[in-house]
Amino acid sequence: MKLNSLAEAEAAVLERGARPEYCFAIVLKESGKVIGEIDGHLESASPEENAPCDTFSPCWMLNKAYYGKGYAFEAAQAFFDYLFGEKGIRRVYAYTEDYNLPSQHLCEKLGMRREGMFLEFVSFVNNADGTPLYENTCQYAILKREWDARK
Ligand SMILES: CC(C)(COP(=O)(O)OP(=O)(O)OC[C@H]1O[C@@H](n2cnc3c(N)ncnc32)[C@H](O)[C@@H]1OP(=O)(O)O)[C@@H](O)C(=O)NCCC(=O)NCCS
Repeated sequence: MKLNSLAEAEAAVLERGARPEYCFAIVLKESGKVIGEIDGHLESASPEENAPCDTFSPCWMLNKAYYGKGYAFEAAQAFFDYLFGEKGIRRVYAYTEDYNLPSQHLCEKLGMRREGMFLEFVSFVNNADGTPLYENTCQYAILKREWDARK
């Protein structure tokens, strides 16, 4: 989500604070400095009203100054251990734009399978002429049994 003002950023921080189970800061051990976040949303794999929410879609983001140091990989590994080991998650899937190679690389390092590409799937911004700019989106996923088998 694109934030356009300090007020929107403050509201976003409060919203994250309201769901502490699935929203984590990435913090440097030595200094306590916050360098990123990892969160996502929980959903059910079934339309049944009381079906368990056992599917999770993560989102990760680092301060640019800390790219390329392995912090996202370390955080995502810990997050996946938590999701599969403690939160009863059965399947984790991630969407990433076709041009977002660092995020795709991270998915692959985590052992996620590339399941496909949705062409012109979603639009966040407009073209210069005001028409929606549709992006191609890759989907990656990993099941609990696949995560456990990597250990
Ligand atoms: C996606 C994103 C989190 C990836 O960050 P990243 O820093 O590239 O990822 P990592 O933490 O895994 O670091 C990878 C690189 O760090 C380097 N590295 C250095 N020390 C390392 C270590 N101890 N362990 C692992 N990697 C290390 C390696 O070069 C590694 O690359 P490699 O796997 O090719 O060897 C980052 O690009 C980002 O925040 N993007 C903007 C937000 C975004 O697009 N999010 C996705 C949509 S929700």
